[in-house]
Amino acid sequence: MNESGKPLSSDFSPVCRRPKASYTCAANIALIKYWGKRDLELNLPINSSISATIDALTSRTTIEFLDEDGGPDELYINEKNVTDSTKTDRVKKHLGVAHWRLRMHSRNNFPTGSGLASSASGLAAFVGALCGLLEERPGEIALEDMSRLARIGSGSAARSFFGPFAYWQRGERSDGSDSYAHDLTFHNDLAELDCTALVLSDAVKSVPSTKGMQESVAESPHYAEWLEHINADLKAMCKNIVRGDFEAMGALMEENAYRMHGTTIPPNRYFSQETFATLAKLKSYRRKDGPFFAFTMDAGPNIKLFSLPDATGPLRKFLERENYRTIAGRVGRLHGPTGEHLF
Ligand code: PMV
Repeated sequence: MNESGKPLSSDFSPVCRRPKASYTCAANIALIKYWGKRDLELNLPINSSISATIDALTSRTTIEFLDEDGGPDELYINEKNVTDSTKTDRVKKHLGVAHWRLRMHSRNNFPTGSGLASSASGLAAFVGALCGLLEERPGEIALEDMSRLARIGSGSAARSFFGPFAYWQRGERSDGSDSYAHDLTFHNDLAELDCTALVLSDAVKSVPSTKGMQESVAESPHYAEWLEHINADLKAMCKNIVRGDFEAMGALMEENAYRMHGTTIPPNRYFSQETFATLAKLKSYRRKDGPFFAFTMDAGPNIKLFSLPDATGPLRKFLERENYRTIAGRVGRLHGPTGEHLF
């Protein structure tokens, strides 16, 4: 994939160059969370965020161009017809192709909509495939533009084109032109960092992240505290990633996740009883004799664990003994028309 594709110019006028295109993209898990929007239509975040891209969690989307002049799109997620196309409609409108009628098939290799970042990989794969319809050659459109477009579909999707670690800058401009993600410099010791997703439930989350964020911003007495810490958290996480200090990264990712969940209404709204019970079990194992690992949670009850390779074996054995359902992955970078592993 050409990393230095052409930026879309302001007078860009989209032309469909092929009838069908596919794209695969990995999901990403936030280490410093994005929580709060300053513009709903453009999905502009209140704060910048940092993530790790996870090679085992992927979405593959195929788009067929059906017609130049309107009619509703056909959207299938994991072969199921989906009628709500709000997110893909927003991207199409922004790109100037709202009138194109498309058939879209998106397949996730992991549970959808349950806090395992399927909207990040799904919307990034959608943007990749949509750009594939427009490009003369794959990789022609710059990743920075794809990141901006994916952000309009689902904020966290902006980070999925990068890795193993990505930084999504909130930007300052009201048109969102400076709000996109880029790669973060990282220490080689973190190149093989493992991620184990603990699937406690694959039910679709009851509170969509946008609603959760809006409630936090409008109502939470803890949201001001979130904002007070965020710049220091971002700076410290960048430093820890460059130094390869995983213990410091781990402590900070947990603190940041707790702070984010503390702003939800009510606090920790996305956690289930099983989330609490599992966290208690994990912490007790780590305290007693366990290897070092760190956890984080997003807008759902599931837990993601990060560990260095030496610790991953014993940790996964413990999870197996406890009968947890897991998905084993590693940080990396995976996106493109054929879904090649790029890192
Ligand atoms: O981009 P969304 O709408 O899926 O929201 C993502 C919200 C969190 O996953 C909780 C945080 C993040 O930065 O990914």
